[in-house]
Amino acid sequence: MKILVLHGPNLNLLGTREPEIYGSMTLGDINARLIERGNGLGAELKCFQSNHEGALIDELQAAQMWADGVIFNPGGYTHTSVALRDAIAALKIPVIEVHLSNVYAREEFRHHSLLSAVCQGRITGFGWRSYRLGLIALTELLEESATQ
Ligand code: DQA
Repeated sequence: MKILVLHGPNLNLLGTREPEIYGSMTLGDINARLIERGNGLGAELKCFQSNHEGALIDELQAAQMWADGVIFNPGGYTHTSVALRDAIAALKIPVIEVHLSNVYAREEFRHHSLLSAVCQGRITGFGWRSYRLGLIALTELLEESATQ
């Protein structure tokens, strides 16, 4: 299994960015844990972060050529990006939307996602573990669809 882990804007600042909301782990720490866990689950991971909408779209489009699925934290673009929604809708591989914080316990504008409807599912509020839960869900889904 090959999986793209995609991180959107400002997630490069994890560790120092509002640690009371996002925790103290850096993006490097999270990626390292995911890669290790992925190995245990038989998945090879590529991790990529960008602050730019177009770069995230390019990465999603390219993933269609090599990946079996995507774990995506779109950051603030979750709540605004029609272009990312269209990019996800065009993919034939599953995308799991993840968020570190519980977006429903925060400002009203974070309660709505333009992307959830075109994702396989959504995990929010478990800190860095949201990614790990997304990885477990995605690998189980992929294994299930491989045996069908
Ligand atoms: C986030 C939640 C978003 O609302 C916010 O803009 C982020 C991070 C999260 O992981 O909790 O940048 O996606």
